Amino acid sequence: MILSNDKILVIDYGSQYTQLIARRIRELQTFCEVIPFNKINKKILNDKALSGIILSGGPNSVKDKKSPKLDSKILNLGIPILGICYGLQLICKEFKGKVGQSKLREYGHSIITVKRKSLLFKKVKTKNQVWMSHGDHIEKKPYGFVITSLSSEKVIASIENLDKNLFGLQFHPEVYHSLEGKKILSNFLFIICKIKNKFKLENFLSVKVKTLRVKLKNKKVICGLSGGVDSTVTAFLLHKAVQNNLFCIFVDHGLLRLNESKEVENTFKTKFGKNFKKIEASNIFLKKLKKIKDPEKKRKIIGKTFIEVFEKEAKKIKGVEYLAQGTLYPDIIESIPFFGGPTAKIKSHHNVGGLPKKMKLKIIEPLKELFKDEVRNLGGKLKINSELLNRHPFPGPGLAIRIPGEVDKHKIDILQRVDKIYIEYLKNNMIYDKIWQAFAVLLPVKSVGVMGDERTYNYTISLRAVTSVDGMTADFYMFNKTQLTNISKEIISQVKEVNRVLFDFTSKPPGTIEWE
Ligand code: XMP
Repeated sequence: MILSNDKILVIDYGSQYTQLIARRIRELQTFCEVIPFNKINKKILNDKALSGIILSGGPNSVKDKKSPKLDSKILNLGIPILGICYGLQLICKEFKGKVGQSKLREYGHSIITVKRKSLLFKKVKTKNQVWMSHGDHIEKKPYGFVITSLSSEKVIASIENLDKNLFGLQFHPEVYHSLEGKKILSNFLFIICKIKNKFKLENFLSVKVKTLRVKLKNKKVICGLSGGVDSTVTAFLLHKAVQNNLFCIFVDHGLLRLNESKEVENTFKTKFGKNFKKIEASNIFLKKLKKIKDPEKKRKIIGKTFIEVFEKEAKKIKGVEYLAQGTLYPDIIESIPFFGGPTAKIKSHHNVGGLPKKMKLKIIEPLKELFKDEVRNLGGKLKINSELLNRHPFPGPGLAIRIPGEVDKHKIDILQRVDKIYIEYLKNNMIYDKIWQAFAVLLPVKSVGVMGDERTYNYTISLRAVTSVDGMTADFYMFNKTQLTNISKEIISQVKEVNRVLFDFTSKPPGTIEWE
């Protein structure tokens, strides 16, 4: 749908880095799509906007008979192809080279030396650090190809066949540790594939609004709001396209941050007026969560209740044909079974994206081509308040999964007050933007303390703060002693139900970001 943009197709063979390739290409303002190797079809390959193809890495060995193959239709297109790692080995095999597995397996950092002038290495240093991650490598170069670089272990690091427009890298240019990787990818895009029409958010916005208008005409659309970035940007974008035909429903499950429900209401009431409806449903959720301790049960109850409440309300709006969802591109990639995101199996995720199929509404996902930071930028162009856009991610089941064990109104109230103190400290001390996600967890543990001359017996809080790129992996953020001391002091002095503060220094894996 991105009309005039030139496009790069990334064919995925199962590499853990495929999303990163797509990310880098977007950073270079080029539109790209990731498609698993077994979903490639004529329509995809005949797309007039297609300017180049990247074959990703993958966990298999091309020597294995059952490993994924390179479809000859792809090679016959005549457009530039860059094979990365497994992708390179596929090209090698196709043109009668030899792939082997020797003692010289290279994993991690390696230094390559450019041996021959190559468009891929234009303005790239002769010697540079790259990231290798595969056991197989080329033993004999394929017919018609030249070797353009070697690793310090004398492994062939890159080959090319200019006549056929085929290029291959044994290393991963998409990984940060490949110091000139981005330059190499940029050479592929702009010198080899000759990309001209760059992907610009301004264009995306105007084109998207126009196509939504054409598609939706005067049909009614409903949108579930969570107060988060994705659903907010979806709603603002749709509003620009269909104005009063957009109806927004915000289910307040009572598990939001302090004052958040009011803030969401204020933002949307002003913008959408009567077409915005807030449903106060905290009592329904609390009742259903009573005596439930198991994390998965909690998640499922919240998910199901959310759908029931939303559905009931949506039915009151007559003649609705579409349901808008804030699905992002990484959600699409992860939900394709072949890609299999690990987190989905660990926790059943719930968000406004999981609304019911049985509602028989047509789904519309206007952000599905975008990454999170692009959605934030788009939100800026739609004039959404920057504080809302730059908020840390917040899970659909809300504070319920930050209160291990049974959830009740009293505990939610304590956690909301603690969370506010913690987050305000981070904001006031300019730490908030350095952290990907920070929150407090109320533990079901009471301990003895002393305040003044009094014995206390109160709750324990654990502080979580992580850095991450996409939430799939994370590292804990290291506060200094003064910061930890001040946060702990502020919480204990202002929230009388808490007398002990812990700091969670677990990375993901082995931990997850949320506690439940
Ligand atoms: P975990 O705990 O799986 O969390 O390491 C990874 C990221 O996902 C967020 N998260 C959710 N987001 N619905 C959401 O919309 C959910 O059910 C959900 N569970 C976790 C979590 O906050 C973190 O950013």
